[in-house]
Amino acid sequence: MAAMQVERVLIDAAAIGERIGALAGEISRDYAGKDLVLIAALKGAYVFMADLSRCLDVPHHIEFVRAASYHGGTESSGSVEVQTVGNLDIAGRHVLVVEDIYDTGLTVYQLREALLEQEPASLEMCVFLHKERARLREVDIRYRAFHVPDVFVVGYGLDFDQYYRNLPYVAVLSSTDGPPYP
Ligand code: PRP
Repeated sequence: MAAMQVERVLIDAAAIGERIGALAGEISRDYAGKDLVLIAALKGAYVFMADLSRCLDVPHHIEFVRAASYHGGTESSGSVEVQTVGNLDIAGRHVLVVEDIYDTGLTVYQLREALLEQEPASLEMCVFLHKERARLREVDIRYRAFHVPDVFVVGYGLDFDQYYRNLPYVAVLSSTDGPPYP
């Protein structure tokens, strides 16, 4: 595997904080008085979930599911496995799925299909990054923090080979001859 390094910052931490505050305000207004459950897909959405949840002004539960489609590379494997984490009780409740990125669309599509089986009162999608590209599955995305071009990005939960999730910003990687990771 080629060594990779951060080439440039695409979205810095200040911009992320400001945008999530605004997005949380919008979501708080929309879900006022409703029984809201945020469901984040591990692992990539863990950072977005933590920041978004802490900015919401409305009471809510948080839950997690495991959804994985990439297996160490930069392309989707084409199949998505969804596993619940503990008991997921969402029947009759308002579900907001929190995802790190809408890329090929396979993951949010599969998540939506799996969660709808439990008959929530409503189900909407909230993604941190909405990538501009042709999709394998189109899903209606109710909320998004940022649009990004069709480049491979890391940071703010997004990984390359499990590294870089901890970066507080979104960055583009480039191949190098240097050490594999910072
Ligand atoms: C990545 C990312 C999204 C999904 C988006 O997850 O975190 O969940 O792919 O891609 P898609 O729209 O093409 O389906 P990954 O499978 O790498 O697992 P991870 O969240 O554990 O990193």
